[in-house]
Amino acid sequence: MADEITLNIDGQEVTVEPDTTLLDAAKQIGVDIPTICWQVATTSNGLCRMCVVEVEGQRALQPSCIVKAGAGMQVQTRSEKVVRARKTILEMLASSVDLSDSPEILIMMDEYGASPERFPDAERREIEVKDDNPMFLRDYAKCVLCWRCVQVCAEDAQYTFALSFNGRGYQTEIGTFFDSPMPATSCVFCGQCVGVCPSGALKPKREFLLEGGMSSEEITVMSSGRKRRKNKD
Ligand code: SF4
Ligand code: FES
Repeated sequence: MADEITLNIDGQEVTVEPDTTLLDAAKQIGVDIPTICWQVATTSNGLCRMCVVEVEGQRALQPSCIVKAGAGMQVQTRSEKVVRARKTILEMLASSVDLSDSPEILIMMDEYGASPERFPDAERREIEVKDDNPMFLRDYAKCVLCWRCVQVCAEDAQYTFALSFNGRGYQTEIGTFFDSPMPATSCVFCGQCVGVCPSGALKPKREFLLEGGMSSEEITVMSSGRKRRKNKD
């Protein structure tokens, strides 16, 4: 077995197995680092940068969800530089994405004193809600591009590959190949993408309709009407 690694995080020594990320090493001593794109069931890609930490000797902040612990590392998880970076990331997100359905990110906004008005001239994502199947809706105006849905739909879980990304740069958005409606893709409606979405961009249809004021009875009548019509076809 390879040798264990000892490092220092926020002034505390911690010894971890090789290949442990800084995020997990910090967890081991009860230090909580905020994350957005990281999810226990998906492969980390270091996309959101919310989990950055300061490592002595490194000029740039390091994403703790992908950087591995190294012997003798001196890590700061809440230095001034780190806090400033996280606050800016949150403010940039809030300036372009509808975060109203992202409770965890809203808590982070409060914690870091992030102002949603910091970048008033930022272009907001205005995308129409996609309602093309009976199971879930896709509201990409709320998407934080964490990539979790794409990953569970692919090698991290389902191997279905119904979701990918479209566009480039600022125009990048999650979608289906050729923007096809979900029923025309390889989607098997397993619901795993909805389960890992942190922002309400993917939402079960029933939840969406309840939030919109429909009663359970009305939704049941509507769904059984749709089933009857489908059986007739
Ligand atoms: S739809 Fe949800 S899970 Fe997929 S990238 Fe956007 S926020 Fe993440
Ligand atoms: S949580 Fe580490 S980069 Fe997103």
